Amino acid sequence: MANVFSNAFSSLGEWVNERAPGLMPVYRKHMTEYYAPKNFNLWYYFGSLALLVLVNQIVTGIFLTMNYDPSASGAFDSVQYIMRDVEWGWLIRYMHTTGASLFFVVVYLHMFRGLMYGSYQKPRELVWLLGMLIFLVLMAEAFMGYVLPWGNMSFWGAKVIVSLFGTIPVIGKDLVEWIMGDYLPADATLNRFFALHVIALPLVLLLLVVLHLAALHEVGSNNPDGVDVKHGPKGNRWDPTKPADGIPFHPYYTVKDLVGVGLFLAIAAFIIFFQPTFGGWFLEHDNSVPANNLVTPAQIKPVWYFTAFYAIVRMIPSALGTAVWGVLGMFGAIVLLFLMPWIDGGKVKSIRYRGTGYKVALGLFVLAFFGLVLIGTDSTAELIPMLFGAGVDVTSLENLFGRVMVLIYFGFFVFLWLYTHLGWEKTKPVPERVTTHD
Ligand code: HEM
Repeated sequence: MANVFSNAFSSLGEWVNERAPGLMPVYRKHMTEYYAPKNFNLWYYFGSLALLVLVNQIVTGIFLTMNYDPSASGAFDSVQYIMRDVEWGWLIRYMHTTGASLFFVVVYLHMFRGLMYGSYQKPRELVWLLGMLIFLVLMAEAFMGYVLPWGNMSFWGAKVIVSLFGTIPVIGKDLVEWIMGDYLPADATLNRFFALHVIALPLVLLLLVVLHLAALHEVGSNNPDGVDVKHGPKGNRWDPTKPADGIPFHPYYTVKDLVGVGLFLAIAAFIIFFQPTFGGWFLEHDNSVPANNLVTPAQIKPVWYFTAFYAIVRMIPSALGTAVWGVLGMFGAIVLLFLMPWIDGGKVKSIRYRGTGYKVALGLFVLAFFGLVLIGTDSTAELIPMLFGAGVDVTSLENLFGRVMVLIYFGFFVFLWLYTHLGWEKTKPVPERVTTHD
């Protein structure tokens, strides 16, 4: 039986090859003859997992679109209809909402891997820049998706976030009306966000992901040792002219990535079936109430994956007195990540061989990021009285903590520039080959 299938498969291959001989070399270049460093660790799972989640979002999104009504009068009810009446509708929706949060978990870990192993440094600056563009588009995609169920948090979230553009001098007010197509989030807003969410931004995302991978395959993958495998010693057991420390992406890494996929699907399934709202972190309680422009939710806060940046908007104006600095700070926090390849002038890529200063700074940066997430989700309002007693002034402590976190976040980039451009970093010697070679 297996023979019948394999014969049919190779005859089909020959048939296609005769008609499109240019396809096979592309497949070989990116799969069977793409020599990836042989020392990838678990941090290298997240690229393929991001691809998996992207496919999940597109497929489940198509099925949701079949029953969703993008009008202010029908959107909320159509989501309830999907959850209660459409066959398996609840599963499709929970796969999509859980997928959105897990997308950001995976992408943040993927970016952290890049910071740890210096994957943004020369010659991979373009891979990093395309990745950052993906990150921006992904944020826009998630924001617009969040507005679609037209719950009360969708409405107020859209109002607050779009109003941020109002802080831009001169054109701000007109810009806000232009984006919303009305004086407040309404039918026009929902229609355009729907169009952008289901087709325009996914197309841009797909294009950027293809370019991201094409750019990576031009220069070759980095690895946990940060050693240049492509230009290092040659000769492996498949090809004497190819990198000594490289192994064919297919089948070696396709099989390895499947292990990551298995683990990831187990975690995703647990959340989808047992904790679909994840205690209000993945699906907020306030969004199960229909949109109402007369009733403001008790706290307007975005979903957790935006909160680090949202906390910056909240913390800076409270210190400087105007909102525009907060908005500039939020954009600055993202722009600085774009500029990482030029801010970091380090001679060594991997954290394994970098100076202690880099290790401490990166650790603090991650802590500041988590701290900002806690402030943005308003978890600090519960944590502070628990830690310091019920009588404390929560707002002032929260502001103090938040401003320290903002300083550490921005301080990371300033320190890194000084540390590497003024020659303060003392690195360890980098081996000539990856450390796991035999
Ligand atoms: C939809 C989102 C994304 C997808 C599907 C994706 C996909 C991938 C894949 C499949 C790889 C190769 C495997 C790996 O190294 O893990 C990769 C590598 C890489 N990605 Fe992404 N990525 C995404 C977002 C990002 C973002 C937001 C950044 C950071 C700004 C980024 C930066 C990088 C870098 C620097 C590499 C090379 C890593 C190395 O060789 O060490 N990616 N990406």
